[in-house]
Amino acid sequence: MSKIDTSNPSTVLGAASPHVLPPLPYAENALEPIVTAKTMNFHYGKHHKGYVDNLNKFIAETEYADLSLEKIIASTTGRPEGAAIFNNAAQTWNHTFYWKSMSPKGGGEPPAALKQKIVASFGSVDACKKELASAAVSQFGSGWCWLVLESGKLKVVKTANAEVPLTKGTKPLLTIDVWEHAYYLDYQNRRADYVSAVLDKLINWEFALQNAS
Ligand SMILES: [Fe+2]
Repeated sequence: MSKIDTSNPSTVLGAASPHVLPPLPYAENALEPIVTAKTMNFHYGKHHKGYVDNLNKFIAETEYADLSLEKIIASTTGRPEGAAIFNNAAQTWNHTFYWKSMSPKGGGEPPAALKQKIVASFGSVDACKKELASAAVSQFGSGWCWLVLESGKLKVVKTANAEVPLTKGTKPLLTIDVWEHAYYLDYQNRRADYVSAVLDKLINWEFALQNAS
């Protein structure tokens, strides 16, 4: 079994079945011009919704039907026969977490309590951002880059496809989606430009602080 702490509200984003597409925490055009309404419309309205719909379809009348999202992820991770359910459950969780990782008022300096942790772990906020950007740009193919808390220290990790650090016993603080569907309409192949714009203008340090507390 995984080490997901399902008693911690910061890691519990989904109630039991049927799973619902949570509302966006802001308007579809609120992150423009960094992430356009067109991208949000497809990414949230088609991709995220698709993961939720597929999850509900795949778990209907199975042992997973009444489990929370986090328990489904914990029960199917690393099990080839549960791959379709894992992928859709994890992508449902990841996207809900990703929307909260950005804010129209994001970017800039982290709040003091988080900045202190960042400086202790990376040396400076710039060094932390550079490490996040490097992980995001170097993830080969589809995936995610994450700021996580592990044994009291902040770390940057990247995951492939639907993988989520929850299953590795680390606590996600924020994430950036680096699947092409996250940026291709706005940036085409320029993933690095998308990542640096998100880090400079949208990254939600307040959300990271809440998760770290
Ligand atoms: Fe995505």
